[in-house]
Amino acid sequence: MRSPLSLFPLYSLLSLSGGLTPNDNSPPLKYANHIFNAIQDSMRQWGSSLHHNGVSFFLATVPAGTQLYHGTSKSSPVNGTEWLAFEPEHAMVFARPRRGPPPGAPPPGDDHDDPERPEGRHGELRRREPRGPDGRHTDAWPDNFGEDDAGYLHTYVAAEDLRLLYVDGMSAAKTSKGTLDSQDILLFNGSVGDRPDGGPAGENERARLACEMAENEWGGRIDGLLRMEAGFEIILCAFERDLTLLRITQVKPQDKDEFGPKGGHEHGGREGRKQDNDGKRRGPGGPPRGGPGRGPNSSRWMRAVTARYHGIGGNRVSLNYDHFVTAFSYDVDLFQDESGLPRLGHLSRSELEAIRRDITTLITTHDATEKSKDWQVIADMVVTRYSKDLSYFVSGKINSMEALQAEIERVMSPYIDYSDRNDVVEAQRCATQFLPPHSLDSESLAAHSVYSVAHSICSKLLEADKGTDFESAVQILRDLVDYLDWTTWKECRGCAPDELCVVPIWPMGTVQDYESPSCKNASNPYDQDGESYWGGMRH
Ligand SMILES: *[C@@H]1O[C@H](CO)[C@@H](O)[C@H](O)[C@H]1NC(C)=O
Ligand SMILES: *[C@@H]1O[C@H](CO)[C@@H](O)[C@H](O)[C@H]1NC(C)=O
Ligand SMILES: *[C@@H]1O[C@H](CO)[C@@H](O)[C@H](O)[C@H]1NC(C)=O
Ligand SMILES: *[C@@H]1O[C@H](CO)[C@@H](O)[C@H](O)[C@H]1NC(C)=O
Repeated sequence: MRSPLSLFPLYSLLSLSGGLTPNDNSPPLKYANHIFNAIQDSMRQWGSSLHHNGVSFFLATVPAGTQLYHGTSKSSPVNGTEWLAFEPEHAMVFARPRRGPPPGAPPPGDDHDDPERPEGRHGELRRREPRGPDGRHTDAWPDNFGEDDAGYLHTYVAAEDLRLLYVDGMSAAKTSKGTLDSQDILLFNGSVGDRPDGGPAGENERARLACEMAENEWGGRIDGLLRMEAGFEIILCAFERDLTLLRITQVKPQDKDEFGPKGGHEHGGREGRKQDNDGKRRGPGGPPRGGPGRGPNSSRWMRAVTARYHGIGGNRVSLNYDHFVTAFSYDVDLFQDESGLPRLGHLSRSELEAIRRDITTLITTHDATEKSKDWQVIADMVVTRYSKDLSYFVSGKINSMEALQAEIERVMSPYIDYSDRNDVVEAQRCATQFLPPHSLDSESLAAHSVYSVAHSICSKLLEADKGTDFESAVQILRDLVDYLDWTTWKECRGCAPDELCVVPIWPMGTVQDYESPSCKNASNPYDQDGESYWGGMRH
């Protein structure tokens, strides 16, 4: 186990202008492609939805003055820990009356995380009261009685720069596909227990643990967690400390237009909808329906959220890309199942603890606001330059070696000195094109990952160019495309104004949406047949 900082001690000082390669003794960066993609996908709904198992942790800041939203059944400001959305439409999903239990019903908390219930999806949009006199958390269930039969949208403004830990991927998605590994297994050390009834572990628990870590292990240097589901959200530990209330407005009562047809007969209601005979959740990839707790009509929500496919926008979040922690930089095998997505459950306790320690060190020694290079824009330069060419080269539209060589030479020509051909030098010039000077002198994981990926592209192009056999030349490029696994290649082209490009975003979407996202009716983006991508819920 090595810490990220120990990975590059051997690099000699490099002169980029001299076109030298990194020292051959430098340790290989095993998952450079995944680190590159984590940087490229960060704070983007699109890439983070496809690469939904994040194993990276970034320091993030949200500047003072940023508007943030909270949806609830309550018309009074939040005091304590709660969830905040970046898009009001996301918060509005939770702006609805809480359905109080009949007298004698099970205690509150039962529906937490039930994706069938919007308030459960976030768990507990109830206010978390500070500890009561007996030292226990006094979840304010009784307060909910007597509330208006209405929902409220709270608009807050960050009173100061918020200091957050960004857990990447779709880390707010309550699934069993690995989206929670980085929190439940790594950050929280397996202490988010499954509920006794077999339901998913509670979001309340994650919020409580995160805020305890913020206070105790992280020296009060973190105000909350930044995560993504259908929209980016913050678990903010102290609303009253960090936010100023701008307004609280009552939302339109949610009727059947917002929540789908009433009655639930089409799926047999709350019980019948859950499972088919074989226990597998089937049917529309749309939000689950049926019963009073049916999922919301996703149209308004998804139109807003998909507007952020390519970035949260407005500099509402800045990440520190010079210093971050990712499981991809450790000497561990993260790909042990067939999904092609990283998991953490098989890591040993000492491996997990080493990463957790590095997260604590990151937080206690760095800030999101310190001067750092924006490696995402540099990664973007690589992707936008090569994405289209590479997909063309493997598209089957090129059908001779001569034609392929001409295309590759077009791409590589800026790096070739025709009076002095030299593969090594040409690959190096090409690979360092977008790198700031001297960036490889440092131990920056981002710098070395971007360099490594760019170098793979450039050297594979040269290798394919030198081949004599057309099929094997194309195969080299196909392998490169597989290795890169850029989400740009799954983007829809030319959706109409009343359509959205649909990819699975928990709990919605089908296997088909994951394999080949396509333009769908924006009024009804997920109302379709097909096997649910997310399968059964986590338990
Ligand atoms: C929040 O709750 C605590 C404990 O109940 C109380 O002392 C404090 O005054 C409250 N703050 C606000 C802003 O209501
Ligand atoms: C993690 O949990 C295990 C028990 O499952 C415990 O022995 C260990 O001390 C915990 N580590 C930390 C850092 O809390
Ligand atoms: C969802 O709501 C939109 C309006 O926001 C409406 O046009 C659409 O028909 C609704 N879809 C369903 C399935 O109810
Ligand atoms: C899109 O869906 C809405 C609501 O279900 C429907 O009224 C409309 O006709 C659909 N549009 C197209 C082009 O299919």
